[in-house]
Amino acid sequence: MPDRSDALVIFGATGDLSFKKIFPSLYAMAKHGRLDFPVVGVGREAVEPSWLVDRARQSVEAHGTDVDEAVFQRLAAQLRYAVGDYGTTAFYEDLGRALGGAQRPVFYLAVPPSAFPTVIEGLEKTGLADGARIVVEKPFGRDLESARALNRTLHERFAEDAIFRVDHYLGKEPVLNLLYFRFANSFLEPIWNRHYVEHVQITMAEKFGVQGRGRFYDEVGAIRDVVQNHLLQVMALLAMEPPTSGATDAIRDEKVKVLRSIRAARPEQLVRGQMRGYRDEEGVAPDSDRETYAALELSIDSWRWAGVPFLIRTGKSLPVTATEVRVALRRPPQRVFGGIEVAPAREPNYLRFRLGGEAEIALGARTLAPGERMRGEDVELFVCSTRGVMTDSYERLLGDAVAGDPTLFARQDEVEEGWRIVEPLLREPGPAHPYEPGSWGPEQADALAEPVGGWDCPGARQCGPESA
Ligand code: BG6
Repeated sequence: MPDRSDALVIFGATGDLSFKKIFPSLYAMAKHGRLDFPVVGVGREAVEPSWLVDRARQSVEAHGTDVDEAVFQRLAAQLRYAVGDYGTTAFYEDLGRALGGAQRPVFYLAVPPSAFPTVIEGLEKTGLADGARIVVEKPFGRDLESARALNRTLHERFAEDAIFRVDHYLGKEPVLNLLYFRFANSFLEPIWNRHYVEHVQITMAEKFGVQGRGRFYDEVGAIRDVVQNHLLQVMALLAMEPPTSGATDAIRDEKVKVLRSIRAARPEQLVRGQMRGYRDEEGVAPDSDRETYAALELSIDSWRWAGVPFLIRTGKSLPVTATEVRVALRRPPQRVFGGIEVAPAREPNYLRFRLGGEAEIALGARTLAPGERMRGEDVELFVCSTRGVMTDSYERLLGDAVAGDPTLFARQDEVEEGWRIVEPLLREPGPAHPYEPGSWGPEQADALAEPVGGWDCPGARQCGPESA
């Protein structure tokens, strides 16, 4: 068992990620009795001593939690603030003092990657890197080359088992359930291949826009923000071979194997979109060509998946917020009830995994509709839906980083495969077609899904601007 870390240091404690994700997770850890270490928030601005506690309170309140004062006080008691210039030795000496006697801190770099080398060098020079772990956020790099360079920087001071690359999708319970459900049951395996699966769609739709993150978003766009990481991770979990065990590297090895067999994406199988009004967002260039929407087709060169199209679609300001996988199964070989049955427009049999918004697993089937005629209707057999309270992904991942368990973090080779797959799209992106906020994206994307009967629109009765 790796040693448990004895402190958490958050670089970028004043930033957006800390506000949206890290403070609410620390509060949840305090609630569940797991916040047994000091948390040092680091920022560049000198502020009142109570500033960090006030910020934590605002964050927790803003994220829909009814604040339990006793729990909040447990969090507040652990919070410290360290201020300074990351480029000076004096700052790391102060940080060392704020850490008291901590021997094995976790350093969470919620700062732009351009700041990594300075921070890492500072930690090393002052001995703070000894025995420490480091957590970095996605996107890890901007392309394959920069991801490799970033990795070299990290490896100059930290061993691989001390580096935790966050892809928070891997910490989501419904995403974990994809892996669990596939390999904890025997009935899927016989049909989980090119003989039974007609095509797969993975949709990550968001009803909201860039939410004040214009500056960040305009640097990355949808492909770097969610396709290279979250959506390829989901695809890997769906398509991987059974791991030899649930051990960390057994799972990661299988994911890498399938990622390696995903063919590099072809620019002619990409449609990018940009929602109208995006260029008016603060921090976005007035002539920005960045995509807020991407639809693409990928394929896997393997015995299991050859010839099965994997369609991926994501966008901001779409009609709903929902992440869903739909594995469409081939139609029955013969239409026994031909002439009487109303032919379904889509494959009647599918497996549907809702990974965000709600958590669901459902099986699409066709059954006899009530009445005298032999008419069919489409139904869904629910395998499961949200039950009980799920652990938030950041709470889980922060806890795992402190415990030194890397299973739910991305390994460098997974990250590099992700870049290899999307790189042709970054080099030859093609135009970003405008689309109306509240629609399902640019109509140019329809052609991509035409051969499989059109796009799935999770959470909406029909695909169109008016559905919500
Ligand atoms: C982040 C992206 O990684 O994931 C955001 O940067 C996106 O653009 C978010 O909105 C979605 O995560 P979740 O957990 O809200 O589905």
